[in-house]
Amino acid sequence: MTPRKIIIDTDPGQDDAVAILLALASPEVDVLGLTAVAGNVPLPLTEKNARIICELAGRPDIKVFAGCDAPLARALVTAEHVHGKTGLDGPQMADPVMPLQDQHAVDFIIDTLRSEPAGSVTLVPVGPLTNIATAFQRAPDIIPRVQEIVLMGGAYFEVGNITPAAEFNIYVDPEAAKIVFDAGVPLVVMPLDVTHKALTTKARIDAFRAMGTKVGDMVAAWTDFFERFDMEKYGSEGAPLHDPCTVAYLIDPSLFTGRLINVEIETESELTLGMTVADWWGITDRPKNALFIGDIDAEGFYALLAERLARL
Ligand code: BDR
Ligand code: CA
Repeated sequence: MTPRKIIIDTDPGQDDAVAILLALASPEVDVLGLTAVAGNVPLPLTEKNARIICELAGRPDIKVFAGCDAPLARALVTAEHVHGKTGLDGPQMADPVMPLQDQHAVDFIIDTLRSEPAGSVTLVPVGPLTNIATAFQRAPDIIPRVQEIVLMGGAYFEVGNITPAAEFNIYVDPEAAKIVFDAGVPLVVMPLDVTHKALTTKARIDAFRAMGTKVGDMVAAWTDFFERFDMEKYGSEGAPLHDPCTVAYLIDPSLFTGRLINVEIETESELTLGMTVADWWGITDRPKNALFIGDIDAEGFYALLAERLARL
């Protein structure tokens, strides 16, 4: 099996961290690089966090690039209320030693898509879509060269988490999201509808801790911290591990089911800015542009996570 080449575009974030660890632990994917974007916390923290995560995985060789520090057309909105001041609050963490690459993340995305065979690189955005949209705007020739985009963002049945109508990643940069959803690239979307079914429970966090490894301890401490916000908000028994759903899909798509539908991004209404208007019921004849995931085998997902993270 040839591993699938991926670029993870990320704003770590505890759940981003688990997505990156899952990818680095899995032979089905070959991580060409991590591109950091401003999102959960500002860019200097997201790029630093990305390097902390690579070092934790024992992979200081992974290339980490800093990208856009603000959305295309708006002021940055962050989520320290969820992820803490550093974006990775929870455990004690040393500063990373591995270097940040000199190249800008957008240039790395463009160069990689131009130099790798067409249709052989998958983009995995798990933060606001600013880096990807900027790359598409600057170098439209790369768009048909993308194999697939598998992203975390949006919601239909769950509607919103940062506003009553919008999910965080799409809300932070709706103009960028519109560019990506309209690009014509095969698109798989992991919305809140599915991630809210991938809840950390006490037993699942205990399984991470029971690994008895540094990675297991860190992931347990991160998810412990990350949980408190959603448990208070939703009264749920744990927090959704949003971003790892994308990587799990690449490893084992049979864990997920969804529908190929039309999804449009709201960029104008103040009230519903960043809403993913998903035609789940096929009411319009607008072109189908996204495989919108609706369900997950949560037990299978957590079993995969536990098995893979134990390899690190
Ligand atoms: C998304 O927003 C961020 O807070 C998480 O990392 C995830 O990517 C969930 O809405
Ligand atoms: Ca994220």
